[in-house]
Amino acid sequence: MAVKHFLQFSDFTLAEHEYLLRRTAELKRRWKAGEIYQPLAGKVLTMIFEKNSTRTRVAFEAGMAQLGGHAVFLSNNDSQLGRGEPIEDVSRVVSRMTDIVMVRTFEHRIVERFASVSKAPVINALTNEFHPCQIMADIFTFIEHRGDIKGKTVAWIGDANNISYTWRQAAKLFDFQLRAATPKGYEFKDVDGVKYDERHFVQLHDPIAAVKDADIVTTDVCVSMGFERESLQRKMDFEPYEVTTDLMSHAKPDALFMHCLPAHRGEEVAAEVIDGPQSVVWDEAENRMHTQKALLEYLLLGQVD
Ligand code: CP
Ligand code: NVA
Repeated sequence: MAVKHFLQFSDFTLAEHEYLLRRTAELKRRWKAGEIYQPLAGKVLTMIFEKNSTRTRVAFEAGMAQLGGHAVFLSNNDSQLGRGEPIEDVSRVVSRMTDIVMVRTFEHRIVERFASVSKAPVINALTNEFHPCQIMADIFTFIEHRGDIKGKTVAWIGDANNISYTWRQAAKLFDFQLRAATPKGYEFKDVDGVKYDERHFVQLHDPIAAVKDADIVTTDVCVSMGFERESLQRKMDFEPYEVTTDLMSHAKPDALFMHCLPAHRGEEVAAEVIDGPQSVVWDEAENRMHTQKALLEYLLLGQVD
């Protein structure tokens, strides 16, 4: 049987995502109650990081430990990847020794190449184009605070990047609308060969129009990892795209503010917003661990309830 991977949000059906959300709630409840639940005893996760991380690493490593398994951390500095070992060779080796692998890298093609020869399930832990684990946690967080996301409006202010491209895939699957405002010249591109109609995706340039009556307002850095060379130009081009309290006032009064983190206060978001009452960024961060535990369990053991 073919190995199941999670490289893009759209790799799972709506039913699979709904199962994972239910399972996340159950695993979170058990963890909060102090229950020991270790179905992954004896299993090992390899974590390959070609870019920095705080949340993703801690969420996977702590999550694996809580489920009774173990995690191995590899970065470019301490593995042969940094000395040019072909990605396929690394995949062949680590997937013979360990049960599941997560990869954080640059072009999405790299994780696809890794998965194409892997004997073990592969999870995309962020590429230039997608960050599916993040949006699983974001949707779980919205549901915890406000209920069903179907029919809702998510306003994206800023760059067309891995986070927003994944929101767009989620909008189509969960049937909500992503309304994006990017500066001119930074519009969304076709990164997944999917056609999005207006019910699920609208490309704008005016942040106020994007935020109007939205249920979620969300943003991210304007310089993603790997794009540092464009930093100066981007910081100028994205200046009018800061999420401020004034911008938030155009959304629904109970709109939530979300950010995948790390954040830059005074750049893409004002301190009063990210540290204010509408912000749920710390829940989003914690929920990375709960959603990733459900994902690890699912890819290793299948549906368990
Ligand atoms: N949101 C996120 O993926 O954070 P890290 O880069 O710290 O893992
Ligand atoms: N878009 C950001 C997300 C970091 C979690 C980046 O790729 O750097």
